[in-house]
Amino acid sequence: MERTLVIIKPEAVIKKLVGKIISIYEDNRLDIIHAHRVLPTKEVLEKHYDAHKGKEFYDSLIDFMSSSEVMVLILEGENVVNIVREINGSTNPLKAKPGSIRYMFGETIQKNAVHGSESIEIAAKEIDIWRDLIRFES
Ligand code: TYD
Repeated sequence: MERTLVIIKPEAVIKKLVGKIISIYEDNRLDIIHAHRVLPTKEVLEKHYDAHKGKEFYDSLIDFMSSSEVMVLILEGENVVNIVREINGSTNPLKAKPGSIRYMFGETIQKNAVHGSESIEIAAKEIDIWRDLIRFES
């Protein structure tokens, strides 16, 4: 069954939006098969955001993502990668569709409430990267 990795970002955890965000995924019939609150290490974040290394927003993004705890979720379901990207909305909350998580809860392009893997292959890689921090069986 297809899986994806979601990260509820630091500012959304601080604002106590975890329950609301999880409800949105469940209302869309997706299964949350793991949920783990953790302070991300820079080592894991550097692997996770490797594709953005060298970009002007990279250092600030790593600092922000390691500033406070996040909620890491693994979701499972048919076509879950695309469904989650749709539910999350565009990277920039100002461009996100009304009803999407980033439209409702995003503050800026960096503080955009959630991360969702871009493809099935990237999801598998990201799940492996976060395995270093969160322990789960299967
Ligand atoms: P990206 O992979 O382009 O978007 P998405 O999260 O929608 O897959 O970017 C990854 C993260 O990098 C994004 O969630 C927030 C951060 N970011 C910035 O801080 N500034 C930017 O200009 C961009 C494009 C991304």
